Amino acid sequence: MELYAAMRTNPSCRYFTDDPVDHETMRRVLDNARFASSGGNRQGWRVVVVRDRHLKSQVAELHSRQWDRYLEHARRGVVGYNDDGKRARMNSEDLAQQRLNRTDDFAKALVDVPILLVFCIELATLAITDKDLDRPSIIGGGSIYPFLQNVLLGCRNEGLGTALTTLLAAEEPDVVDLLNIPDGFAVAALVPVGWPVPEKQYTKLSRQPVDWFAFGDRWGEPLD
Ligand SMILES: Cc1cc2nc3c(=O)[nH]c(=O)nc-3n(C[C@H](O)[C@H](O)[C@H](O)COP(=O)(O)O)c2cc1C
Repeated sequence: MELYAAMRTNPSCRYFTDDPVDHETMRRVLDNARFASSGGNRQGWRVVVVRDRHLKSQVAELHSRQWDRYLEHARRGVVGYNDDGKRARMNSEDLAQQRLNRTDDFAKALVDVPILLVFCIELATLAITDKDLDRPSIIGGGSIYPFLQNVLLGCRNEGLGTALTTLLAAEEPDVVDLLNIPDGFAVAALVPVGWPVPEKQYTKLSRQPVDWFAFGDRWGEPLD
């Protein structure tokens, strides 16, 4: 499919059909995604393609530990996580109840999604150029997200739905044990992959316009 069309129509998919995803399709996506950039071209990414139902149910259970906690806070009007683990308070009117419900359905049905991709990153490959600044590192994750985004777009190109999720990372010690992930690797994300249920997809993604986030020459000055 055309690249810009893929970029503009790739929502977090929360509802999947039961149809399996064949191995060749998954491999094709990964084979194209691997041309992503990484710091020093170290390519520290690894992906565990979890298809076994028993393993999926254990991954889903670990995800639920975090999701259930998040949901409890969200329903009390507290959502989001700051870098230092403190929860960010938001106006309860800002809470998109519908999104919360969709994500709750998604969390409960995770075991039924054909593939759960667990993204890992080799810590020794990270060139964290902002590590000495007095703020959270942004560069640290930068060597996994271009690759991950390529996987999301590649899946979209195949007609597959995906959702980038990160709650599982907080359960890293148990994920590492479950999937035999070696020392020196961090869990970066969990991405379910399957065929979307068409009638449950968004028709339009909600994003800010270019002039909201892009400036010309100096911050705050118009782009054009
Ligand atoms: C860094 C990052 C972390 C995210 N973590 C989660 C997550 O843990 N669980 C989840 O359901 N979605 C997660 N998302 C997905 C976002 O919530 C989603 O992209 C956003 O709400 C917009 O939804 P839409 O793409 O369907 O419009 C994450 C996205 C990013 C970029």
